[in-house]
Amino acid sequence: MRIGVVGLGHVGLVTAACFAHVGHEVIGVDSSAERVEDLRRNKLPFFEPHLQVLVEGGRRRGNLHFEHDLTGAVHRTDVIFICVGTPALPTGEADLSQIEALAVQIAERMNGEYRVLVEKSTVPVTTGSRIEQTLRRLTSSRFDVASNPEFLCEGSAVHDTLAPDRIVLGSSSEEATRLLMDVYRPILDRSGCPVIVTDVPTAELIKHSSNAFLATKISFINSVAEICERVGADVEEVARGIGLDPRIGERFLKAGIGYGGSCFPKDVAAFAALAEEVTGKAPLLRAVQRINQAAPARLLDKLREELWYLRGKRIAVLGLSFKPGTDDMRDSPSVKVIEALLEEDSSVVAYDPVAMPKAKELLPPTVSYAPTVEDALRGAHAGVILTDWKEFKELDPSTFKRTLRFPIVADGRNLFDLEDMRAAGVTYLSVGREAVRA
Ligand code: UGA
Repeated sequence: MRIGVVGLGHVGLVTAACFAHVGHEVIGVDSSAERVEDLRRNKLPFFEPHLQVLVEGGRRRGNLHFEHDLTGAVHRTDVIFICVGTPALPTGEADLSQIEALAVQIAERMNGEYRVLVEKSTVPVTTGSRIEQTLRRLTSSRFDVASNPEFLCEGSAVHDTLAPDRIVLGSSSEEATRLLMDVYRPILDRSGCPVIVTDVPTAELIKHSSNAFLATKISFINSVAEICERVGADVEEVARGIGLDPRIGERFLKAGIGYGGSCFPKDVAAFAALAEEVTGKAPLLRAVQRINQAAPARLLDKLREELWYLRGKRIAVLGLSFKPGTDDMRDSPSVKVIEALLEEDSSVVAYDPVAMPKAKELLPPTVSYAPTVEDALRGAHAGVILTDWKEFKELDPSTFKRTLRFPIVADGRNLFDLEDMRAAGVTYLSVGREAVRA
């Protein structure tokens, strides 16, 4: 199959590289000439496990091309995947102007041959019909618009794409469905995963509902964590106790500093805005957002209470990316925590195994960075853990006692056993569990 992928961000680049890996002829297009040039030299714009190897392989075999101009991807492919950004407007609604602009540019380049345009970016329901309307106004070429939401997680994006747990195809045309099945045939043959073929609005809703449901699980357990702290219960045990019920499931019940990243915060906001537009209300989603937004302040309250004042204290922040396995800092809880610390006149020394170069571009220049965990902790008044990197989990609790000025750790990821911290003489403030005081 000949496939165009437009927008080479996390979703687009992974999609393009994986389609090339399974044997398709792929043209990836991006409006940034610099990004295209970098990719042609195998330089990736972000860190994602296994992606480098896939991009290099596709370039070497010659079935993965990167182009700045969209024309080739419209003229020389059968199916065009739309993977451009859908950022949030200040109201929380999704800004679909990049999608609209792309629909216009594709229409202008259509040359009478049939094409399938596939939404892969996360978009609110009804976007498909908007794309269709835009193209109808501008071209007489035959086309179909389909929806094929992605369910890839950063850090395991390549695996999630090559071995998905389901593929959702929203399409009202048999011809488009057949072509999409051909695109996915090699992945289906390997993974044997179920395929849901449905209409476009249903596919769009599956994506938003899926992310909103996962975010709801996280906010649910975080609100249970708050109750646990007040009544002396342990949220980890509660999560295990409820998660073993297969109707609930254990995953996404990890209490902590809240969800971040480029998807959940934006998607919950967009879904809530859409729900309010079409039904006049979104009480559940708004509560999910409120609980999430309160999580960083809750952790800092505990630390302030312990330190008496945050002002003038040096705080070691361990973990900057929104989750392990990525250098992505978009909507990372670390940004909120660090900004709040600086506002209270604390000084911040940060360490992250991969996100520090990105962080330096994003965070205020007053933040300093340490080359190792121990360097970050040494001499700081307290440590704050914000990302569940394996490197932090594997730290011996005595490290905190040995290096910190006051052995106080506020852990937004519940990485350590309470008894181990107690035995090491560390004051340990985690989420939804008893506070350990040395
Ligand atoms: C998320 C979804 O998991 C993917 O299925 C979806 O395709 C993707 O968004 C997307 O829409 O593109 P991702 O943002 O990469 O993937 O990250 P997750 O692994 O879902 O984690 C999101 C956030 O929730 C992280 O900040 C993580 O630390 C937090 N989290 C996750 C918790 O606080 N507790 C949990 O139990 C699980």
